[in-house]
Amino acid sequence: MTIQTPNPLTADQSPIVEFWNDILAPKVIRFRHIMVDGLSLHSQMVMPQLPVAPGDDVLDVGCGFGDTAYALAQRTGPEGTVLGVDCCQAFLDLAWRCPERMFNPNVRFANGDAERDLGEHAYDFVFSRFGTMFFVNPVAGLRAMCRALRPGGQMAHIVWRNREDNPWLAAARETVLQFLPAPGEDARTCGPGPFSMADEAATRAKMTAAGFTDIAFRRIDAKVLVGRTVADAIAFQLALGPAGETFREAGPLAEERRPQIEAALADLFAGVETNPEGLWMDSSSWLITARAPETA
Ligand SMILES: C[S@@+](CC[C@H](N)C(=O)[O-])C[C@H]1O[C@@H](n2cnc3c(N)ncnc32)[C@H](O)[C@@H]1O
Repeated sequence: MTIQTPNPLTADQSPIVEFWNDILAPKVIRFRHIMVDGLSLHSQMVMPQLPVAPGDDVLDVGCGFGDTAYALAQRTGPEGTVLGVDCCQAFLDLAWRCPERMFNPNVRFANGDAERDLGEHAYDFVFSRFGTMFFVNPVAGLRAMCRALRPGGQMAHIVWRNREDNPWLAAARETVLQFLPAPGEDARTCGPGPFSMADEAATRAKMTAAGFTDIAFRRIDAKVLVGRTVADAIAFQLALGPAGETFREAGPLAEERRPQIEAALADLFAGVETNPEGLWMDSSSWLITARAPETA
């Protein structure tokens, strides 16, 4: 069992990698409860069916805080390995420090840009939850994932489906757009964004171009936690996601109009399903599965 460590980050890191580290990391860490607990149903619902066998070597791309890497280690057992790769060091530091680490010495984390290199033919299974949608060059990133697989190895990635079925992101953006202009062409971003792989035909074409075969899409509908309280949900939307991008890019105008924007978002969240954990909204993703070619 060898674990190949992907390319370490270098001074010529891409602007997207810089953006994740400099701008998004503190915000994502602040809302870790939403990023981890809030989105986890999408992977929990399919984790038992993923094609992972005891002893497998697994790669988790864009692993964030590492929760899916630890979940995958439950499938590989101690005789397998899991490597979580992410381009954001602050997330990896938290992933290493998870209490689960103590019970899973076969889980490791490494800093790397998945679009550049993930090693060659080193893994039986490659996974990503909500990581691939941010590839600036999706074919390059998907190709790196394909190349990282052993011949005939399998992959699965989870990406958001269309805006209409994801009101937790789309409705908040629409609300903010009532008060602020849409981000311009030159806006600094974290990559193409959450809906960049929503279109089945376009994503299938990208995966085919990357070298995958046996590509299949399965729809996952699940509730997502959008905040513990209405105030938390508003703060989350103004910090991250498409609404957050619109708010950030509008600069001083956004701050000037903050009271009206917050009031409108409070109205939006007033009608949302609530339980003791917080506010929950509908969401929908694709589980996309595929296979690497049988010959390297
Ligand atoms: C929406 S988060 C998802 C994190 C985690 N998989 C989860 O589901 O909680 C996207 C992650 O992809 C990482 N990421 C984005 N582009 C990347 C790249 N080119 N190489 C490696 N990681 C990347 C980000 O740093 C971030 O942790």
